[in-house]
Amino acid sequence: MSDFTLIEDAPLVARNTFRVPARAALLADVRSAQGLTELFAFPRLKTLPVLVLGEGSNVLFAGDWPGLVLSLAMADLRIVEDSGDAALVRAEAGVNWNDLVGWTLGHGLCGLENLALIPGTVGAAPIQNIGAYGVEVREFIEAVEAFDRLAGRIERLDNATCAFGYRDSIFKREPERWIVTAVELRLPRERPLKLDYAGVREELAAMGVTAPRAPHVAEAIARIRTRKLPNPALIGNAGSFFKNPVVSADVAERLKAEHPALPAWPAGSDGDSKLSAAWLIDSCGWRGHREGDAGVSAQHALVLVNHGQASGAQILALARRIAQSVYDRFGVALEAEPRILGAQPIPKPREILDA
Ligand code: FAD
Ligand code: EPU
Repeated sequence: MSDFTLIEDAPLVARNTFRVPARAALLADVRSAQGLTELFAFPRLKTLPVLVLGEGSNVLFAGDWPGLVLSLAMADLRIVEDSGDAALVRAEAGVNWNDLVGWTLGHGLCGLENLALIPGTVGAAPIQNIGAYGVEVREFIEAVEAFDRLAGRIERLDNATCAFGYRDSIFKREPERWIVTAVELRLPRERPLKLDYAGVREELAAMGVTAPRAPHVAEAIARIRTRKLPNPALIGNAGSFFKNPVVSADVAERLKAEHPALPAWPAGSDGDSKLSAAWLIDSCGWRGHREGDAGVSAQHALVLVNHGQASGAQILALARRIAQSVYDRFGVALEAEPRILGAQPIPKPREILDA
């Protein structure tokens, strides 16, 4: 028996957290890395557009997918090397990310606590280098194992080759080429906790924790996230819809002079600043806005929501209007964080203006 199952004209509504309707011409559930190699041995599949779909928590289907959607079910999880002070953990792509966080903490390993409760799979974690509460997953990734569609085999890419950045990696830039099959993470048994992100210390204090350990931090982060972000099980969404824009020092200075309340943080080494997209959108009055079933969360201005029956195209149209209004008011271009499928990506507002 082969290690994959194929379905034609497959519905994707239950496979994306926006819960928008879309269909895939072909859907393959793959149960092993071997299954992947078998699948791509079919000549017709070599040339089809391929979309790897994890839990669909960072995609927006604005239309159907005309090719193959790949869902990776392999979920082996183990410690492959242990020096006492640290361990190398290998997790296959289909493992749920938050299950991995809990599993590592349960094995006395730390590092991933600030990344607790991020939805999605392990296979998707390196794609945009998931990050939250002052930590990014790249800090712990030793290597990523990925099927290279150009070469037709699995490669092991070391951390530097992955070219991680803020919500960015080589995999995100070449989505048709790489299919992540497993991730290797080197995790220490002791490390200073990262508690500086706004609200973390306060949450620990509210929990009555005076000497926090990594599992306490994971619990504090989970509590903050549950309060701040709408739950996709209750209302369709994909977390932050836009990246926080990174601007030059000059632009940041001008904006801070005009809008002293605008949250901004240093980004990178050349004086750039990362601005709060939520604040920019909130200031344009979008929080809680609703057009039919497409809307902006009343809880968090950076989160677009599907109140029930919105299509991906309606959510995308709203996103475009939001980006345009932020550009008109602040001169800052917002870039979508989720991958937009079945439509052109959001153009830079200047291009809209020039059109
Ligand atoms: P999908 O949405 O299925 O896919 C996302 C992208 O990765 C697509 O381009 C897809 O093709 C590609 N991909 C997925 N798996 C693979 C693979 N195995 N190989 C190659 N490409 C692959 N993100 C953060 O960084 N920080 C947060 O704090 C955060 N909070 C969130 C909160 C909520 C409520 C939600 C809904 C989302 C949040 N996200 C956050 C975004 C999302 O959780 C992450 O991007 C996550 O890694 C997506 O996982 P997924 O399995 O759902 O990927
Ligand atoms: N803010 C507003 N209005 C709002 C919400 C927030 O003005 O409606 C302001 C807050 O006052 C705060 C600032 O925006 O000063 C930042 O808010 P928050 O701490 O919620 O973080 P964020 O920048 O909006 C980023 C990530 C999240 C991640 C959190 C925590 C991006 C695009 N988003 O959000 O990631 O969980 O920080 O680290 O970088 C995701 O990627 O999907 C995601 C949820």
